Amino acid sequence: MGIPLNIGVVGLGYWGPNLARNFHTLPDSKLTAICDLDKKRIEHVHSLYPGAKGTVEFKELLDQPELDALAISTAVPAHYPLAKAGLLAGKHVLIEKPLASSSDECEDLIRIATEKNLVLMVGHTFLYSPEIRKIKEIVDSGEIGDIRYISARRLNLGLFQEDINVTWDLAPHDISIILHIMGKLPEVVNCQGSAHITPGIEDVTALSLNFKNEQSALIHSSWLDPRKVREMTIVGSKKMILFDDVAPQEKIKIFDARVDPPAHYDSFAEFHYAYHHGDMSVPYVKPEEPLRNECQHFIDCIVEGKTPLTSGADGAGVVSILEAASESLLHNGAPVDYSDRWKQPAQHAPKFDAIQGSSPRVNRLRKKFATGS
Ligand SMILES: NC(=O)c1ccc[n+]([C@@H]2O[C@H](COP(=O)([O-])OP(=O)(O)OC[C@H]3O[C@@H](n4cnc5c(N)ncnc54)[C@H](O)[C@@H]3O)[C@@H](O)[C@H]2O)c1
Repeated sequence: MGIPLNIGVVGLGYWGPNLARNFHTLPDSKLTAICDLDKKRIEHVHSLYPGAKGTVEFKELLDQPELDALAISTAVPAHYPLAKAGLLAGKHVLIEKPLASSSDECEDLIRIATEKNLVLMVGHTFLYSPEIRKIKEIVDSGEIGDIRYISARRLNLGLFQEDINVTWDLAPHDISIILHIMGKLPEVVNCQGSAHITPGIEDVTALSLNFKNEQSALIHSSWLDPRKVREMTIVGSKKMILFDDVAPQEKIKIFDARVDPPAHYDSFAEFHYAYHHGDMSVPYVKPEEPLRNECQHFIDCIVEGKTPLTSGADGAGVVSILEAASESLLHNGAPVDYSDRWKQPAQHAPKFDAIQGSSPRVNRLRKKFATGS
């Protein structure tokens, strides 16, 4: 591409160093700044990437005109203030999931990014995994028929969070995958759960999403389970797909299995469900690191002036479902009407075609990209 983009990573706890590694190794980006409130984390990441300048003062990143973009991987309550300050300072922003703590915060970030013609992207990392891409391809081809329901289980003896419950921590992955596969938003959201370890912070939840046409999704999230489970089953009218993300290989299995009610019957004695059991097949999927694809996509969106696959609007869609889940939890799992909550993400997607408004550096890069020189 020519000049690499200068990236700063904010938040260097568990996940941030993975972003730092990718932006350091990708040829189209350079890790030039790292920031955390904890000096020890800065020292550690600096020892791995000595070219990146470390600071505990986030403001120092905003004052660097050569810094093109920020990747934010802090605790969730800090996402909004940091991202807002970054956008106002003219930086493109990638925020790890969930985008922010409320839909109001999300809408504000989308508004600022749109006004300033900057990329706002959320790290719904699974949409960049080759397995989810493959599953989406299979579903869209019609091979499994119409989706009947999707069930997801994301369980383990997890890292207990202090400021968010397990739905906000783990379910954003499943919600983003399910919305991507379904291609639409739910009508009704229910969530039940219990807080066994930290009072008031649910560590086990069951979230259900109901879509039009009797389609549904069930998401079981837990920090309190002896096994690490990362499973999703997509049940279609013709076939069923099982995605097991912790399997060492053959993560996707397609079962040629279905049940049909009899087409015609005159008496109960004639009523027999038609069970179909066919072959199980395993599609080949080339292994790729999802986060590397996510980071490359962020760079491509900045340079090519594209709206990300996981845009601010997609992030807001997921956050508004999390909010509905919290509301339902407060009322012991009562249904929450979601139909008026968040309009189709596409209507909210920022228009991001023009190149004016971006920093002179990025405009230079875009021109270079456009001319191929
Ligand atoms: N995409 C994925 O697959 C994935 C995986 C894990 C975590 N995450 C997300 O990444 C984010 C971070 O999660 P984590 O597990 O690394 O958390 P963590 O607690 O391990 O790390 C957060 C870091 O941010 C720092 N921090 C907090 N506030 C800050 C501020 N104002 N300025 C600078 N630094 C600040 C903390 O000191 C800490 O080092 C969360 O949003 C989480 O949901 C995403």
